[in-house]
Amino acid sequence: MTQSDITILGIESSCDETAAAVVVNGRTVLSNEISSQIDIHTLYGGVVPEIASRKHIERINQVIRKALSTAGKTLQDIDAIAVTYGPGLVGALLTGVSAAKAISFAADIPLIGVHHIEGHISANFIAAPELEPPFICLVVSGGHTHLVVVKDYGEYEILGRTMDDAAGEAFDKVARAIGLGYPGGPKIDRAAKEGNPDAIHFPRGKVGDSAYDFSFSGLKSAVLNYLNSEQMAGRQICTEDIAASFQQSVVDVLVGHAERAMEEFHYDRFALAGGVASNSALRSAMQKACEEHNVAFYCPPPILCTDNAAMIACAGYYEYIRGVRSGLDLNAVPNLPLGQ
Ligand code: KG4
Ligand code: ZN
Repeated sequence: MTQSDITILGIESSCDETAAAVVVNGRTVLSNEISSQIDIHTLYGGVVPEIASRKHIERINQVIRKALSTAGKTLQDIDAIAVTYGPGLVGALLTGVSAAKAISFAADIPLIGVHHIEGHISANFIAAPELEPPFICLVVSGGHTHLVVVKDYGEYEILGRTMDDAAGEAFDKVARAIGLGYPGGPKIDRAAKEGNPDAIHFPRGKVGDSAYDFSFSGLKSAVLNYLNSEQMAGRQICTEDIAASFQQSVVDVLVGHAERAMEEFHYDRFALAGGVASNSALRSAMQKACEEHNVAFYCPPPILCTDNAAMIACAGYYEYIRGVRSGLDLNAVPNLPLGQ
């Protein structure tokens, strides 16, 4: 540690993970505490917003305390507090924002509101210390599907986004329909390994003439229709084949859009981000596509793909050195757009 090192406390509570982390100079993670609520929401087949907010309130203080103690730091060592203020579930976001504001006020530490997707993108800076903008990034999570050009730190150009369901949402809904339960992504990933991706041809979602926008709700309906017709005909369904064929359709669309962007924009680096970036089929297909296009491929390890606060502290660091500060009037913004 030198005197010029910047130590950031990150806080994340936008969905169903209560998380806090301490990160030095944006890329060195001293602690990354995540308290997941998955077990509770599994009982209901998906995230129940009111329960998520209450669980965040119960856990946030101890998660923050643990992040500081694991890092061997006290609040006196913290240069700024970075907190996710959107997008996400409003009650869930408010817990993290309120905790961050209270600490900022009480301990007189600067506050920085961070965009959740900017956090996901930044997970790549932690995983690959040599990675610098510009590059193309595909952010695929439970709530978001964005293909963006990361022009500089904190500067994004959105090439495409989903017009309906997010990629992770499609995984979760299809998993529920075929009886795999919540959270769907990892369960489909696992089941697909035992199935045949060519067994059923599901549609590859296309949105009008747009080269880069996504649509996954038609694919979800196609899976539901397939299930219905098989059941009506009294045929046995093969969960593994449906999982593999559905996953192949999602991967084909994501990789197809990414390849088009590589060919059009000629950036020599490409990164994946978000919870769905931990999907094994997507990772290997994207790696192959990057190799074919002579583009360096980046993807954080699964623990940094799903929601965590290290990525928020990293994004907060780059905001901090650009001079960005938030006031104590910082509020949760559930539908916060990227790049504003
Ligand atoms: O980034 P994240 O933790 O939360 C949001 O910001 O939404 O992403 C969670 C999403 C869920 O939809 C989950 O099913 C999906 O990421 N996911 C996966 C995998 N692991 C998590 N989807 C596909 N394959 C996986 N292995
Ligand atoms: Zn997320």
